[in-house]
Amino acid sequence: LRGSRILGFGHHQPERILTNDELSTMVDTNDEWIRTRTGIQTRHIAGPDDSVTSMAIEAGRNALADAGVSPSAVGLVIVASTTHQDRAPYTAGRVAAALGMTNGPAPIDINTACSGFEYALALADQSIRVGSADVALVIGSETLSAIADWTDRSTCVLVGDGAGAAVLGATDTPEIGPVSWGSVPHLLDAVRVEGSPGRFNQEGRSIYRWAITEAEGHARKVVEAAGLTMDDIEVFAFHQANLRIIEPLVTALGGESKFVIRDVVESGNTSAASVPLGLSKAWARGDLPEGVPALLFGFGGGFAHAGQVVRT
Ligand code: ACO
Repeated sequence: LRGSRILGFGHHQPERILTNDELSTMVDTNDEWIRTRTGIQTRHIAGPDDSVTSMAIEAGRNALADAGVSPSAVGLVIVASTTHQDRAPYTAGRVAAALGMTNGPAPIDINTACSGFEYALALADQSIRVGSADVALVIGSETLSAIADWTDRSTCVLVGDGAGAAVLGATDTPEIGPVSWGSVPHLLDAVRVEGSPGRFNQEGRSIYRWAITEAEGHARKVVEAAGLTMDDIEVFAFHQANLRIIEPLVTALGGESKFVIRDVVESGNTSAASVPLGLSKAWARGDLPEGVPALLFGFGGGFAHAGQVVRT
């Protein structure tokens, strides 16, 4: 049975780190409020040389190196972002060119906000499953700092920049489960980035309420779709929006003993980059349990959600 599996992870974050104390000199906030309401302690912010494209390229390069895969073997590149730089050419095309993929892989950009990486992973897995590609590079990359309103304390303290990537390869024993995905029509406008370059706006309370009441059921559906039970899952990798969303979700799913990604503490909310960034950082540190089922679940702007179980 043809399917796909993860061959390697990679990530990249800008050098500049913005602390809560620094933020409190920019807007009327403080470390205590940010920590207790969000769990965030620091975030990385893009400098003049960092962009969605440059970070996607670096994360992709690192993932290919980790996987030991040559750029010319990649048949599909998918980049998920809410902050794609240009409408044309695609970010995915720029990544392919910069990484020397002279074979001309299929380039796809997608934008389903914070669940973008899980959508990208699903498209890549399905493409490999049906034989349209043998190797795929899947990236989430964001410069939310570019669309943040740095005078609005209720949103600017949440955002961060960075990129995470995974390389998928074909296998006869599929290690990426079917995607379970969907959207919430009444929350369509709960996250907005309107105009150009856009301003990030969100109804924080409604999103928080949905996450606390509905996310658990959707996360359970992801595990059912994989034909597993919650007991089988060893790693939880949820969208890194807020520790005050992640912790109740972990508790509701009975996950106290699981390995839980909590990179929001260091990186803030990096939207489409948050799940691969958290996984790749844990992998690079040697912390991520290897060869075990991990539950990936993203949710956010749109209001879209998606998840799948993958073997790490
Ligand atoms: N510092 C100090 N005070 C603040 C700050 C701040 N940074 N931000 C807001 N406040 C104040 C508010 O003005 C308000 O004061 P008031 O009571 O005098 O009016 C008070 O704190 C409470 O504000 P709330 O907005 O009610 O705070 P809440 O506890 O709901 O937390 C938060 C806000 C953290 C945004 C929360 O709602 C949340 O996490 N929502 C989910 C966000 C999310 O997950 N987004 C994902 C999608 S993002 C994407 O897709 C890119």
